[in-house]
Amino acid sequence: MYEQISHSLLNQILDELKPETRKRDLRHFYTRLGANFYAIHSLFHHLYGERDDFEQQMVRLVEVMASQYIKRSAALKDMDSAREKDHNWFLSQKWVGMALYTDGFAGDLNGLASKVGYFQELGINMVHVMPILKCPKGAGDGGYAVSDFRDVDERIGTLEDLRSLAGELRKRDILLTLDVVVNHTSDEHEWAQRARAGEQTCQDYYYIFDNRDVPDMFEETMPEIFPETAPGNFTYDESMGKWVMTVFNNYQWDLNYSNPTVFIEMLDIILFWANQGADIVRLDAVAFLWKKIATTCQNEREAHLILQLMKDCCQVTAPGVLFIAEAIVAPVEITKYFGEDAVIAKECEIAYNATFMALLWDAVATKNAKLLNQGIRSLPDKLNRATWLNYVRCHDDIGLGFDDADIEQAGYDPNSHRRFLVDWFTGAYDDSPARGQPFGVNDKTGDARISGSLASLAGLESALESGDPAAIQRSVDLILLLHSLIMSFGGIPLLYYGDELGTVNDYDYINDISKADDSRWMHRPRIDWQLAERRHRHGTVQQQIFDGLRKMIAVRKTIPAFADYNNRELLDTGNPHLFTFMRSNPFMDNDNVLVVGNFDSSPQSLTLSELGPLGGIEYSQMKDLYSGESPRLFKDQLVIPPYRFYWLSDQAAS
Ligand code: GLC
Repeated sequence: MYEQISHSLLNQILDELKPETRKRDLRHFYTRLGANFYAIHSLFHHLYGERDDFEQQMVRLVEVMASQYIKRSAALKDMDSAREKDHNWFLSQKWVGMALYTDGFAGDLNGLASKVGYFQELGINMVHVMPILKCPKGAGDGGYAVSDFRDVDERIGTLEDLRSLAGELRKRDILLTLDVVVNHTSDEHEWAQRARAGEQTCQDYYYIFDNRDVPDMFEETMPEIFPETAPGNFTYDESMGKWVMTVFNNYQWDLNYSNPTVFIEMLDIILFWANQGADIVRLDAVAFLWKKIATTCQNEREAHLILQLMKDCCQVTAPGVLFIAEAIVAPVEITKYFGEDAVIAKECEIAYNATFMALLWDAVATKNAKLLNQGIRSLPDKLNRATWLNYVRCHDDIGLGFDDADIEQAGYDPNSHRRFLVDWFTGAYDDSPARGQPFGVNDKTGDARISGSLASLAGLESALESGDPAAIQRSVDLILLLHSLIMSFGGIPLLYYGDELGTVNDYDYINDISKADDSRWMHRPRIDWQLAERRHRHGTVQQQIFDGLRKMIAVRKTIPAFADYNNRELLDTGNPHLFTFMRSNPFMDNDNVLVVGNFDSSPQSLTLSELGPLGGIEYSQMKDLYSGESPRLFKDQLVIPPYRFYWLSDQAAS
């Protein structure tokens, strides 16, 4: 858009750029900057326009974008151009991800590089390497307390190792996802250290207060994230004699984005990692980016503006790089992190589908899909050119963040239903095979979340202990059922390392003082590669799960209807145990896939004729694309065995 004020400012900024910047060939950079400058200027002005140094800050912002563009390699610039031409590339069904901790998965970055063959064996082509940056030696929130945003933790490797891993992955067409922890730093970060030493400019990077007056005002409306281990949202710092905002742990200092220098520093860091070869940047805890008294300090409008600004700036320097929003918030809030408009107000192309994840676990505990159906129906439409990250487990706890109104619609009382779920997964009921533990129990509000590995929550740990083959089978089927839904729902399925091998809880964390009070460590495993070899031995649990997933991934990649073009229709089957939806090929008529999952321990039936025309699928010709078999059918009644799923189509997979 051409607008005089921003355009003349742009001209002025370009005149003020350092001579060495002006000399470079910046043609692509300038066209993109011209295209986005109106938006960048308006957003930056909205956030920081009151300041006397606004124009200097604007110049600095452009300098950062330009200097990172100059540093961007020719290969990455070519990739940017290729992705600009094929801008929907990430909506394809071809992508399947895995999130992992480098040390738990392979010791260090070189170990990880030596394991890329394993990703290919399974079919993984997007790897989320969780934080690898310098962090405190003791408790470090699993790397989410960063002490240096540009230096790899020596326990994990070096920047050089990371670059070579990125190259290795790129050679094999595997995307690399890296974290940028944008909301806070560790208290060992240089900025925090200098703030402690009394440097005002660094104190301005954080929310630091002389006394409790302002913190007390904030506390009136701010919830607690880690109520057991880090109650309250402020920590008294002895050396400064001041209070620091620490929403997460007391050693994680919240960055103050009302200071434009913080925004520019963090943008520079995002672009730095883009230039190291990250295809996707996971922006951590984005809901928390703006703090305002008398609010929960989550999902504030300015947090969205900051993300829009980050996106607009990143598009100028590294347009091929995508953002993932890690916003584990209420269902109606999550979709807002895609932005208001795919072009003029974009935020993150990808967002964690925390709602779907939690609803899946609800269906496991209740053995029915009532709330799952209800919750998905209430999920607001997401933008085109945006996609979900669908997952069953991750390194964090399971929060039961469903909408109260949805819980009521499904016929439950919100409080008692949530309590039931926590109890069911943490061993309060004799008939529950789950082996989870509570996390984040808040005695003041009654809230609680759940820790535990997928396999242990799905009953595999207890089944293996009892040696009951039927219970083992049920659990394996359930693990596959859950994955079949994240693979067919629409979006990028993100597996969690170890789940592909049925890894159960690791209780060792209790012996490590820096981890003992955080039960999330029970599901952050160290892969036992000898045990993993059992995936090659027919009939083992590892083989059944691994091969099941491998096949599912391979089949998913052949089904165009599984690409994410908002091409999903939920079907009302009248049978509460079933979760049923239709996916349609966005590029071809009459190429539909009917997905059915049975959460019950008994077989369930579905009368197909009652579902309407079913996109013209011929029942008699129907095949399950996963198994290649014809499903059990009596006339128009489909029978779905316990904990099983079907991907049904009358077309052969392409
Ligand atoms: C994100 C991470 C979580 C961490 C938190 C604070 O939610 O996933 O592990 O504790 O941010 O950084």
